Amino acid sequence: MGSQSGSGRILRVARMGEPVLGQVADDVIDPQAPAVQNLIRDMLKTVHYLDCAGLAAPQVYASVRLVVFRVPAHTDNPKYRLTPQHDPEGVPWTVMINPVVEPLTSEATEDWEGCLSLPGLMGLVPRFSSIRYAYLTPNGQKVSKEAHGFHARVVQHECDHLEGILYPQRISDPGKGFGYQEEIRKHRLSPAESK
Ligand code: NI
Repeated sequence: MGSQSGSGRILRVARMGEPVLGQVADDVIDPQAPAVQNLIRDMLKTVHYLDCAGLAAPQVYASVRLVVFRVPAHTDNPKYRLTPQHDPEGVPWTVMINPVVEPLTSEATEDWEGCLSLPGLMGLVPRFSSIRYAYLTPNGQKVSKEAHGFHARVVQHECDHLEGILYPQRISDPGKGFGYQEEIRKHRLSPAESK
């Protein structure tokens, strides 16, 4: 991790096949350590540049339990399968250190997901539809929240990265539920969704 000051660096994102994406990440011992604060700053710079919904530290070659995510309030990008009934305002960019996820139901919902580590691809992934999650903020404060729908999905997706799990490992039927975004938009999403 660099010591460059200012508003951060745009980090290179590891693609599926890089060993770091398959490792179980280490706990962050001290959220306030300069290396951790630098990593947070650089990850936030990177997600703003990439205009995505989330990023986990292993995706930028740092095998530690740190993720950033958001829930957009609106999108015209069909790769974000928003559930505005749950989060009409969206959720602002959130930094989570040592996050823990607990399902609140055994019910799972399938929907399409993408990942920066698999550019251009999408998969139909089952996720718990309601969860509780807890984490430390960059200031070291404990936070616990509930999430439903897309919000629950993105938290589960990002936290899976900390276990070395990428979404293709969760797809129930890879024969039907996996492919290139362009083709899936054309053939699988309704016309309204594929705009
Ligand atoms: Ni991902």
